[in-house]
Amino acid sequence: MAKHTRQSSQEAADAIQGTGSIPRVSQNTGSFKAVDQGTGSIPRVGQSTLASLPMVDPGAQQALRRTGTPVISFKNVTKIYPAQPKKAALDDITLDIYPGEFVFLVGHSGSGKSTFIRLLNRELVATRGRLLVAGEDLTAMRRWRIPYLRRNIGCVFQDFKLLPNKTAFENVAFALEVIGKSRHVVRTQTPEALRLVGLESKMDKKPDQLSGGEQQRVSIARAVVNRPPLLICDEPTGNLDPQTSLGIMRLLERINRNGTTVVMATHDKEMVNSMRRRVIALDNGRIVRDEDQGVYGLDD
Ligand SMILES: Nc1ncnc2c1ncn2[C@@H]1O[C@H](COP(=O)(O)OP(=O)(O)OP(=O)(O)O)[C@@H](O)[C@H]1O
Ligand SMILES: [Mg+2]
Repeated sequence: MAKHTRQSSQEAADAIQGTGSIPRVSQNTGSFKAVDQGTGSIPRVGQSTLASLPMVDPGAQQALRRTGTPVISFKNVTKIYPAQPKKAALDDITLDIYPGEFVFLVGHSGSGKSTFIRLLNRELVATRGRLLVAGEDLTAMRRWRIPYLRRNIGCVFQDFKLLPNKTAFENVAFALEVIGKSRHVVRTQTPEALRLVGLESKMDKKPDQLSGGEQQRVSIARAVVNRPPLLICDEPTGNLDPQTSLGIMRLLERINRNGTTVVMATHDKEMVNSMRRRVIALDNGRIVRDEDQGVYGLDD
């Protein structure tokens, strides 16, 4: 299993905040609205921690889909990379994703999944159309607003992007430190996030002392430690064996149950077929399928 230990601290910061500068400010001016469906019946797993996140009844998922303000709204979005001007990576995408949804993004290699994900945290800017996240138009967003957007979006990648010389605790704590959280917040929320992912006993281990699945759990803890309302994942199980992938998937599902909207690009056919969540299929940059309780539906 590939270990990715050569990450610089800038890359790790980028993994947390996306690319770009990270101002050390503590106020959060993000305009995300928490999801509160007021259902108290979901058991908290392992004394979780993201306890302050409002919860969403998974049974209410479908009802949620069409209510409220979309957390993500693509309006005729086209993305053309300058290096490939003749072919749009995303071509006239229009769709809404509502708070509390769990959405799989599927499609063959090169269909546009990563481009879709990278538009969401403003790593990329749409060439045409409008993309609204939490009501804010990312296509018109001023540069100084980007870090505020990014602290509301947790990111999980295939290659973990952990700092090799820092422990699990320090990797997660770093995500809070770079946004100027107090030592008290860091000391309380970091262990909570590691407990959520079941790694409280391995807080002092460095990435090379952890398995691939454990490293991915650290990166998920880092992504959610600031309790973002939106979690975007680009092939989070791409480097993991099926059993380990299942554990990661359950974890993402639990985070979603706690109210976090999850958008996940994946090639993991079994996972998509067993979860029966919303599936958006891309082909050549276009949406070819959007199903509420979908299946993978591709040959690979
Ligand atoms: N930086 C870039 N410059 C030019 N073209 C790019 C760039 N990044 C991606 N593309 C092109 O955009 C299209 C979509 O790529 P993207 O990475 O979004 O696909 P993907 O669905 O994530 O693929 P994979 O499953 O292999 O990760 C492809 O045709 C790809 O070659
Ligand atoms: Mg990709």
